[in-house]
Amino acid sequence: MGSTSKMKVLESLAPLFIVCLGILGCTRAVSLEVKEGNSTCIKADLSALLFITYTTFNSTSNVSTSLPDSTSVDAASSSCGAAGRPPWLVAVFRSGHALGLSFATNGSFYSVTNLTLQYNLSDTSLFPQSNGSGIVTVVSSSVGIWAPLNITYRCASPTTIRAGGAAVTFSAMRLEAYMPGNDLSPAESVCAADQTTTTTAPPTPTTTAAPAPTPAPTPPGAPKTGVFSVTNSSGTVCLLAKMGLQLNVSYVSQSQNKTVQELVNVNPNLTITSGSCGGTTASLVLTQQTTTLNFTFSMNSTTSKYHLSGINLLANWSDMTAPFSASNTSLDYLRSTLGRSYMCNTEQTLLVAPAFSLNTFRLQVQPFGVKASQFAAAEECQLDQDQMLIPIIVGAALAGLVLIILIAYLIGRKRSHAGYQTI
Ligand SMILES: *[C@@H]1O[C@H](CO)[C@@H](O)[C@H](O)[C@H]1NC(C)=O
Ligand SMILES: *[C@@H]1O[C@H](CO)[C@@H](O)[C@H](O)[C@H]1NC(C)=O
Ligand SMILES: *[C@@H]1O[C@H](CO)[C@@H](O)[C@H](O)[C@H]1NC(C)=O
Ligand SMILES: *[C@@H]1O[C@H](CO)[C@@H](O)[C@H](O)[C@H]1NC(C)=O
Ligand SMILES: *[C@@H]1O[C@H](CO)[C@@H](O)[C@H](O)[C@H]1NC(C)=O
Ligand SMILES: *[C@@H]1O[C@H](CO)[C@@H](O)[C@H](O)[C@H]1NC(C)=O
Ligand SMILES: *[C@@H]1O[C@H](CO)[C@@H](O)[C@H](O)[C@H]1NC(C)=O
Ligand SMILES: *[C@@H]1O[C@H](CO)[C@@H](O)[C@H](O)[C@H]1NC(C)=O
Ligand SMILES: *[C@@H]1O[C@H](CO)[C@@H](O)[C@H](O)[C@H]1NC(C)=O
Ligand SMILES: *[C@@H]1O[C@H](CO)[C@@H](O)[C@H](O)[C@H]1NC(C)=O
Ligand SMILES: *[C@@H]1O[C@H](CO)[C@@H](O)[C@H](O)[C@H]1NC(C)=O
Ligand SMILES: *[C@@H]1O[C@H](CO)[C@@H](O)[C@H](O)[C@H]1NC(C)=O
Repeated sequence: MGSTSKMKVLESLAPLFIVCLGILGCTRAVSLEVKEGNSTCIKADLSALLFITYTTFNSTSNVSTSLPDSTSVDAASSSCGAAGRPPWLVAVFRSGHALGLSFATNGSFYSVTNLTLQYNLSDTSLFPQSNGSGIVTVVSSSVGIWAPLNITYRCASPTTIRAGGAAVTFSAMRLEAYMPGNDLSPAESVCAADQTTTTTAPPTPTTTAAPAPTPAPTPPGAPKTGVFSVTNSSGTVCLLAKMGLQLNVSYVSQSQNKTVQELVNVNPNLTITSGSCGGTTASLVLTQQTTTLNFTFSMNSTTSKYHLSGINLLANWSDMTAPFSASNTSLDYLRSTLGRSYMCNTEQTLLVAPAFSLNTFRLQVQPFGVKASQFAAAEECQLDQDQMLIPIIVGAALAGLVLIILIAYLIGRKRSHAGYQTI
């Protein structure tokens, strides 16, 4: 998405851009259905982001991936609940990975009783350098997804469910089990998170009064610029970054019992920098107390171009009801060429997940080919170039205006001269 940087200048196009992101499926939605004979018993439309911690030969590593478009229902393990088995939706993806939801009902409500995530450590494309191999299964039995029978459960807000060393974040979810027909019931039960975040939440049967308006926290101002570097095993600097960073996070506040949106500046002198360098991937990890921000840069060795391909945020702030995790591994930001650094002085917003975006200020990075601990010549972002164009355009427009006024004045004067002569 090369036009990203133009977004801020063409402020009026921003809504269009966000819509376009939605349509292009930056949050990939999958549609899953369990059938028995001709009738559908479970249907789910959702996006899911999986975050998995695993051990590598040296340490531990994190991977995050979204449920791919190719995800499909495993008909053999899924069931509608015949022969005493509970209804079970099992979605399989890539090689040997699966996500399962099992359901139960008490006659008036249905709920997800447990979530099962199965991942295949032998899949080295997803788990590079994994110490273990084979299938790992983790289960969570506190899922918190439930709705009355014959009513669709709907939750647009991200909801994270933890299981073992993994976390699954669902968003844009619509789901129903024990379905009376073959389509999702039109009546919807909206999850609590949606009721408190969206301004357009439909009226719901719950009796909770409108939440008391809480004063918005004062914005923290522009963040300080920090210089961060990663050294390789021989002690030379292999990744350099200079930037101010501001996190924009939506999470469920414990004290306010609702979703709040908070801007938090990264303080460079409280930050511990780590990371790794490689031929085609490099990472920068910034840790500040209970916040860990991880950048992954990728290089295409055929084209010698690199870009920021992944951002991952883990945060466990005191007012959070649960630790926050958001990540995206299919980003395409900060594009530049090997042997050059990337620069963007203008503020940029990097959308990572529905609940997390990152604002960058006065940024310069070079994740590959750093020589002598110095930035190489910079490729400047379109935004900076546009920014420089604005005075020129404004100047040209003003000059044009002056010219038009001058011409109008001259013509007007000629006309009025003609008028006087007839008297
Ligand atoms: C499914 O539909 C086909 C044709 O529509 C019909 O012949 C068959 O009996 C149906 N099966 C069940 C289990 O209802
Ligand atoms: C892991 O350890 C080996 C030696 O034991 C070392 O060569 C390698 O660079 C280490 N990898 C990382 C990512 O630290
Ligand atoms: C890797 O696996 C071996 C054997 O299972 C284990 O002893 C070792 O502690 C593991 N290393 C890490 C870093 O977990
Ligand atoms: C796990 O992944 C490996 C490598 O991709 C594959 O050979 C194996 O069949 C997978 N296991 C299962 C159970 O699918
Ligand atoms: C989760 O649900 C499935 C399907 O009902 C069941 O087979 C499995 O044993 C359950 N796991 C746990 C830990 O309850
Ligand atoms: C079913 O579960 C819901 C929610 O847990 C509860 O409010 C309701 O009373 C239960 N109904 C029956 C018939 O047990
Ligand atoms: C759900 O719908 C089915 C078919 O329309 C009906 O038989 C059943 O009684 C309904 N259940 C509830 C709890 O409303
Ligand atoms: C933070 O993100 C929200 C949407 O999640 C957006 O409306 C808001 O403008 C952002 N604020 C800043 C300062 O970027
Ligand atoms: C938080 O809000 C939910 C509904 O939005 C309510 O059910 C719950 O009791 C509240 N919890 C506290 C501690 O106020
Ligand atoms: C961080 O920097 C500010 C000024 O830039 C300084 O006042 C403060 O003491 C520094 N904090 C630490 C922990 O170094
Ligand atoms: C590198 O770029 C070329 C041309 O854009 C593309 O065809 C190729 O798939 C890319 N390779 C990787 C590993 O992304
Ligand atoms: C998050 O913080 C709380 C309290 O500070 C702590 O009890 C909890 O273990 C932390 N969770 C994680 C995953 O670090």
